[in-house]
Amino acid sequence: MPTGFLLADLAAEASGCTRCPLAATRTQVVFGGGDPDADLMVVGEAPGHQEDLQGVPFVGRSGQLLDRLLAEEMGVDRSQVYIANVVKCRPPDNRNPMADEIAACRPYLDAQVDLVAPKVVITLGNFATKLLLNTDEGITKVRGSSYPMGDTVLVPTFHPAAALRGGATVLADMRADFVRAKRLMGRAA
Ligand code: URA
Repeated sequence: MPTGFLLADLAAEASGCTRCPLAATRTQVVFGGGDPDADLMVVGEAPGHQEDLQGVPFVGRSGQLLDRLLAEEMGVDRSQVYIANVVKCRPPDNRNPMADEIAACRPYLDAQVDLVAPKVVITLGNFATKLLLNTDEGITKVRGSSYPMGDTVLVPTFHPAAALRGGATVLADMRADFVRAKRLMGRAA
């Protein structure tokens, strides 16, 4: 069956998910989306206010910066990418997701990575990076390199929110990481 149908089935199942307490406070599940056959997948942390309202990942300020980095450093539009989060429901007041919430949601993310089978996964920030790289090391330590994981290469970088909080250095590092991801996809100019 085409990947898009399998992901749509999973999204339908997830839309009524009650595996963790975030089900009680969300407006809707933000499953993820984009090109189901994408060579590039981006994994963030959790939906924020705008994402919770619209049901689409990365549509707020962090998402606008993500779109810019994809366009400016990789020459791709978000429609060519598959975008998902570690947890699919907004934590109240945008607090960090808790370990039990991450564990409850993990099967959805694992299935998304398996089905999309991207060449490259960019993890944004500590939560996505620690989970998919299976490490306790922080993002500052692990970024700047790439990590082969089976048929996929993981490229960790900062979360766009960190760049928005005011780091010119953070933004420059993110740009370098997106260029690294592009090179790994075999698209380097
Ligand atoms: N931050 C995230 O990590 N994910 C989103 O979808 C939006 C903001």
